[in-house]
Amino acid sequence: MPYQLLFVCLGNICRSPSAENIMNHAIAQAGLSDRIVCDSAGTSSYHIGSPPDQRMQAAALRRGLKLKGSARQFQPEDFAKFDLILAMDRENYRDILSLDRQNVYQDKVRLMCDYAQNYRDRDVPDPYYGGESGFDYVMDLLEDACQGLLQEIKPKL
Ligand code: 4NP
Repeated sequence: MPYQLLFVCLGNICRSPSAENIMNHAIAQAGLSDRIVCDSAGTSSYHIGSPPDQRMQAAALRRGLKLKGSARQFQPEDFAKFDLILAMDRENYRDILSLDRQNVYQDKVRLMCDYAQNYRDRDVPDPYYGGESGFDYVMDLLEDACQGLLQEIKPKL
């Protein structure tokens, strides 16, 4: 069974699909595509079925990355299915754990920024109501955190 990663934000149209696609790219570059698989989800139902936000797609394309995916909502069943669940911010982290009724999955849920090596942020800032630079910053931060995450996972494969 490949190692299964789930990236989670609020809407699943900006941060978590970017994390999923950036991580898939890093995994492919490392030749590990058959060992690690990625998915993403939102804590909210706001954008179920929607593709990644146009502004996020544009920021990804500036790095040569085409974002794939359509938004889905995080389900309690995801706790058992995934090996590691990466929350984009502390609110997402709390919202995810509030669905863990038996309090048994806490060790599987982590903050994405815990894996960043060159940034001190605790949260991947929500870019939704801001300008273009916020989307570029999400890409910068996630590229860094995905590299750190890959280094953490490699010994577990
Ligand atoms: P995301 O960004 O959580 O990174 O996908 C957002 C998307 C939509 C909303 C907020 C944040 N919204 O309020 O609709």
